[in-house]
Amino acid sequence: MKLVVANLKMNKTKEEMIIYKKTLEENIENNNLIICPQDIYLDFMISQNYKVGAQDLYIENSGSYTGENSPDALESIGVTYGIVGHSERRKHFNETNDFINKKIKAALTNNIIPILCIGESLEERELKEEILKKQLEECLKEITGEIIIAYEPIWAIGTGKLPTTKEITEVISFIKTISKNKVIYGGSINLENIEEIINLENIDGVLIGGASLNPNNLINIFNKC
Ligand code: PGA
Repeated sequence: MKLVVANLKMNKTKEEMIIYKKTLEENIENNNLIICPQDIYLDFMISQNYKVGAQDLYIENSGSYTGENSPDALESIGVTYGIVGHSERRKHFNETNDFINKKIKAALTNNIIPILCIGESLEERELKEEILKKQLEECLKEITGEIIIAYEPIWAIGTGKLPTTKEITEVISFIKTISKNKVIYGGSINLENIEEIINLENIDGVLIGGASLNPNNLINIFNKC
């Protein structure tokens, strides 16, 4: 069974989350499904039926950091995963590899498994191995614990465009020559393309944005994994 990470991003009201949780709990009982809702719903979403991940976390456990989320506090409510370095955080909040490296360390110290996102932009596509290597080396500096690496080409996120299966397999193999961790793919995964992608032999799972917003759609995707 491969991992399925659902990144709900900044979506859904409390009412919608109540239905989302109920639908999942009626249909799923599996630790390979990881739901990453907005922070305000993390505590509410904790369940025996699936795992819960934060969409981001801070580098310190406490202090005067208005608006941030403490990895220690996340652990205390039962969050077990944390996405770090998503391209939207890199783009809108200027997150650097060095800062992401600190987040990975903070997560691991608090028993949260980091899901590190890396990926190239369209302009960088020809040079992607160089770009990915730099992201990995800088983000994983002095890191020894278990992490998950999500390969997410920026141009494939929310666009309906995917790399070929050959490209995905090659990139995953390349990442695995640099890091011995699990590698998942993210970017425009949906019910139509999931089987082709999830059956690639070296892939350890998928990260799903848009297609995870409808819980029934997510369940249908998950059941093919
Ligand atoms: P998408 O998003 O599935 O909507 O392309 C993926 C992501 O941003 O992680």
